[in-house]
Amino acid sequence: MESALRLLGVLSVLLTWRSSDSTSYKLSNVVCGSYNQSWVRINECRLKAISRNKTIFNFNATFLHPTNDIVMHNRMFKRESGYKPWLINTKVNSCQFMIRPYNPFVLFIFKLYKDFSNINHTCPYYGDMIIKGMYLTRNIEALPIPTGDYMLAIDWLFYRKPQFATNVSFQFVENLI
Ligand SMILES: *[C@@H]1O[C@H](CO)[C@@H](O)[C@H](O)[C@H]1NC(C)=O
Ligand SMILES: *[C@@H]1O[C@H](CO)[C@@H](O)[C@H](O)[C@H]1NC(C)=O
Ligand SMILES: *[C@@H]1O[C@H](CO)[C@@H](O)[C@H](O)[C@H]1NC(C)=O
Ligand SMILES: *[C@@H]1O[C@H](CO)[C@@H](O)[C@H](O)[C@H]1NC(C)=O
Ligand SMILES: *[C@@H]1O[C@H](CO)[C@@H](O)[C@H](O)[C@H]1NC(C)=O
Repeated sequence: MESALRLLGVLSVLLTWRSSDSTSYKLSNVVCGSYNQSWVRINECRLKAISRNKTIFNFNATFLHPTNDIVMHNRMFKRESGYKPWLINTKVNSCQFMIRPYNPFVLFIFKLYKDFSNINHTCPYYGDMIIKGMYLTRNIEALPIPTGDYMLAIDWLFYRKPQFATNVSFQFVENLI
């Protein structure tokens, strides 16, 4: 995993020359689910098409009790006759990350949503978690991935127990010149 992340870091530096008209990308599906309704309610988890190549993501969940211990289990899949595990499978302590953003992959995810969200402070987390009108921006180009359909599946654990899941799929097209 360590070496995969280092590779990701190196490749993303190498690929930052990629210009915005050489790639296109959009969110294609979202599925969320609570494993524990008495702690996490998902009020909204929905994509909305704005134009042919732009969809926005609205997410609203309520944490009914505060939590001071959050781990995200990130898995990335690539669709090849069904979704196949792809490169990323990593668990990161979100509360530590919010104090010191030490993990490059989670930093990448954070940059993608932070401007659309109130999920941007240190622990504890309590109440409504909102992502509103989020769409993929150029930040996604930091990911050194080939053309394809991808899914980022995140399981969110509080005190080591899974509480909810957010599965976000997107299309990424690299136009070869
Ligand atoms: C969507 O298409 C418009 C016009 O064709 C273009 O300006 C824009 O950069 C595209 N956005 C994405 C995210 O590909
Ligand atoms: C998210 O995706 C994973 C991997 O395919 C799957 O095991 C899980 O059931 C999905 N969760 C939801 C809420 O769809
Ligand atoms: C579900 O949430 C409640 C708090 O409402 C908590 O006490 C309980 O431990 C949680 N169950 C699991 C399996 O995490
Ligand atoms: C999120 O959902 C809760 C419960 O339905 C609602 O009270 C709240 O107004 C919603 N927040 C936003 C920003 O939509
Ligand atoms: C977090 O998001 C809120 C709401 O969007 C914003 O007012 C606040 O300045 C943000 N805080 C940080 C540390 O970015």
